[in-house]
Amino acid sequence: MSILFDTERKVFRLDAGSSSYAFCVGPWGQLLHLYYGARISDTDLGYLQSALNTGSFSPNPPEGDDSAFSLDTAFQEYPVNGTGDYRVAALAIRGENGSSATTLRYRSHTIRRGKYALDGLPAVYAAEDEAETLDVLMEDPLTGAEVHLLYGVLDRYSAITRAAVIRNSGQSPFVIEKAASAAVDFPTMDFDLVHLYGQWAGERQICRAPLTHDIRTVASKRGASSHAHNPFAALVSRNAGETSGEAYGASLVYSGNFAIETECDSLETARLVMGINPIDFAWTLNPGELFTTPEAVLVYSDEGLGGMSRTYHKLYRSHLCRGEWKEKIRPILVNNWEATYFDFNEEKLLAIAKDAADLGIEMLVMDDGWFGKRNDDRSSLGDWFVNEEKLKGGLKPLVEKVNALGLKFGIWFEPEMISPDSNLYRAHPEWTLCAPGREPSIGRHQYVLDMSRKDVQDYLFDVISGVLSGANIAYVKWDFNRNLSEAASAELPPERRKETFHRYVLGLYSLLERLTSAFPHVLFEGCSGGGGRFDPAMLYYSPQIWTSDDTDAIERCRIQYGTSLVYPPSSISAHVSAVPNHQTGRVTSFETRGNVAMAGAFGYELDLTKLTAEEKELVKKQVAQYHAYAPLVQDGDFYRLISPFEDENRCAWMSVSADKSEALVTFVVPRTRVNFNSYLRLAGLDPRKKYLDESTGRVLSGDTLMNAGLNLSRSYRDGESVLIHLKEVKA
Ligand code: GLA
Repeated sequence: MSILFDTERKVFRLDAGSSSYAFCVGPWGQLLHLYYGARISDTDLGYLQSALNTGSFSPNPPEGDDSAFSLDTAFQEYPVNGTGDYRVAALAIRGENGSSATTLRYRSHTIRRGKYALDGLPAVYAAEDEAETLDVLMEDPLTGAEVHLLYGVLDRYSAITRAAVIRNSGQSPFVIEKAASAAVDFPTMDFDLVHLYGQWAGERQICRAPLTHDIRTVASKRGASSHAHNPFAALVSRNAGETSGEAYGASLVYSGNFAIETECDSLETARLVMGINPIDFAWTLNPGELFTTPEAVLVYSDEGLGGMSRTYHKLYRSHLCRGEWKEKIRPILVNNWEATYFDFNEEKLLAIAKDAADLGIEMLVMDDGWFGKRNDDRSSLGDWFVNEEKLKGGLKPLVEKVNALGLKFGIWFEPEMISPDSNLYRAHPEWTLCAPGREPSIGRHQYVLDMSRKDVQDYLFDVISGVLSGANIAYVKWDFNRNLSEAASAELPPERRKETFHRYVLGLYSLLERLTSAFPHVLFEGCSGGGGRFDPAMLYYSPQIWTSDDTDAIERCRIQYGTSLVYPPSSISAHVSAVPNHQTGRVTSFETRGNVAMAGAFGYELDLTKLTAEEKELVKKQVAQYHAYAPLVQDGDFYRLISPFEDENRCAWMSVSADKSEALVTFVVPRTRVNFNSYLRLAGLDPRKKYLDESTGRVLSGDTLMNAGLNLSRSYRDGESVLIHLKEVKA
């Protein structure tokens, strides 16, 4: 049993992998948080509640005029707004009386086998015998709000999933002004906050800074999880590194507006609250209706950030990604975007495909520009019909020719968008997302479709299904190239328009669910101007995501390193592109471009027909390396060794197979120094096993490699890199 209830003390304890999580039912039915951290074995934990109070300025609940208990200072499980707790709340419900003062009292709970699912939302899943669910029913007697706090424990993982389902069991509608997915109170604020920020072509940079006495928010209001912030944060002990120290990860399975708030108070405690961003959100719930929050995934590690990441990688790879591709080695693809941009036709594509086939590449992906009259980014989004001027005879003959070369065929869509210059816009201007009475802002010359509308979803389902069933298409790249603005669906009454952002995301998920179910063999790859929607929810529909439009290998070191805090290498799509790099102008060697891309779902993004004979030989070598190493990279354990955020000269990471019989080490020198002293201590190996370093022929034991390390000191050029394969040798 991983979920216990101590009936006498009314304490719940959830044991997840190496962690425990505990809370209890308090004196008047409030749910009080007790503990989160390394695994413990008691349930007599009530003594851990805060007995501190700030005197008469901390209100006491009306049920008992007890100055020793105040929600202002108590550690809570799902803190509510406006009834004595002044910290960031998880729940605010505005009732018929117009007030958002909210109360929740425990009513009952159930513990059952299996993991709960969330209606219309992606969530971690597990077989009946792999997980348990705790469902605690709370209620607000005045509004009739029933709140089911859901907890999922997959015992093999040091992870706890959480979500809330709110039901209106009262007589009148109420408005949910805030409904977080999870909150955690910590008895200390002695943490660093780690999160991922970025921009287009510079996603998921690591930021780490100590908590201070304030409220800090990592959030998006862009209608997408966004390039700017990722729906992830970690609180880590001040001494935590990659291998030691405590790390509490908080990741939200959501692709829309989110907020992760941390607050530290004068009592030196810290609260973390995460969920849908309450800004621009309000949801009217009529009697009998349900509202479900997205899922939060909490991970505890006492092996630093590295331990936290490995838990997320395994959990997300095996219990969030779905479909037949989730654990398969992904095909090596060549994408024509940086090769041709919009300027292609059947002939050009076939020339690339022919070279690809000769070099052992497995799939051709036709990117933007194949439909409508799209010869630049000013038109045709929405018109998902083949441009027969470019592709004479249509898609089917092209796909057949590509297949005949032995290659699979993939295609690009940007379904959620509409160009003002498109037949779709001329037929359905009302499908554009826009607040009534306003002009829609324009981004990359395009508007956004109102994905909350059923007719829009149906149109997209039909038109995309038509393309996918009209030819042998093995892969879809699902792009999204601008953020939402004027986001107020014309279909909703004015008082409900703040539901638009969330309804948009629900509409997107519904469409993705229909399409991925209808085309189970198609490999979907997420994309949003690179990695602008690289979030756990998208991984539920697409097991890999285009990580960034920045394909420069040196920039990619930082982007992929940051991405790896949460996301498994199998999800990190990475391509070798041409030099000078199209985004930075930097020239790096073909080897380094390959070595860096080899850390993810591997491919090419250049005109193969323009490669020299020598470069073509390197492609063949990389293809062979990928076939040899992909199982290790995609299924192995990932260890970050040297952070490019801390060392401007070096960056290193490695993958170790589950049985520790094999490892692949990548060492990159973004910026060299003369006489470069560089020892690299490895991680994750079996200390007693002997490993052959295939680059030197030297055999060393795991303990030597992890303590003394590799001696990589020598002269390097800027951007040079080394790939080292280690293989166990049996005595
Ligand atoms: C986005 C993607 C690119 C490419 C272009 C096409 O920027 O990230 O990979 O598909 O759109 O317009």
